Amino acid sequence: MIIVKDVKKFFDNGLTVALNGVSLQISKGEVVAISGPSGCGKSTLLNIIGTLEVPTSGEVFIEGENISKYYSQYNFRAKTIGFVFQFHYLIPTMTLIENVELPMYSLSIPKNLRREKAKHILDCMGLSDRANFFPTKVSGGERQRAAIARAIANDPKIILADEPTGNLDIDNGEMVMNYLLNLCKKESITLLITTHNPSVASMAGRIIYMKNGKVEK
Ligand SMILES: Nc1ncnc2c1ncn2[C@@H]1O[C@H](COP(=O)(O)OP(=O)(O)OP(=O)(O)O)[C@@H](O)[C@H]1O
Ligand SMILES: [Mg+2]
Repeated sequence: MIIVKDVKKFFDNGLTVALNGVSLQISKGEVVAISGPSGCGKSTLLNIIGTLEVPTSGEVFIEGENISKYYSQYNFRAKTIGFVFQFHYLIPTMTLIENVELPMYSLSIPKNLRREKAKHILDCMGLSDRANFFPTKVSGGERQRAAIARAIANDPKIILADEPTGNLDIDNGEMVMNYLLNLCKKESITLLITTHNPSVASMAGRIIYMKNGKVEK
């Protein structure tokens, strides 16, 4: 499903080595946690797999296709990937439900269905009474849950979740993780999740440990 081949990523003209030759293979429907100290390259790896960032060298394949041709294409992302960012990036001028509807626009889903589906996902995230609030008017945890709702709205094949429970208390973190895990199991979605939290990592089928831009053997 996902093959990462010797991916390197340098910033600042090579002064910062974020990824120093990462290779991995992830099967369809697998739930994988990526763990490791701050700065080891977890977010960079997720951004590259999600076509948000271009690797300095190396290749990434998704379902057998080299994704290098998709780096500037919104459509590939919209159809294939649900992204939960480490810092949520909801659109501040849109209400939570409008944010959740956003990924469905490019899939030409009729307006009423779009709204219904967004409402359902927000309900599942325990946010029914916050649907019409703007992101600045809800709590950090509520924003994070709305960001997760938005990531799954386009029925992605792959969910890339960067510290999705980082802003949540234990109960909400568990609720969100259980929801994500059930959804991925039911729909055979491949889930990649970065986390510092060992109990979150232990919920995954496999844990990949990273250090200094590499996968630890
Ligand atoms: N846009 C950027 N420009 C320059 N350096 C960057 C950029 N993004 C990341 N880095 C650097 O690359 C390295 C890896 O960063 P990354 O965000 O992938 O780490 P991380 O494992 O996600 O850390 P955290 O657990 O704190 O989120 C760090 O040294 C970071 O400072
Ligand atoms: Mg990070």
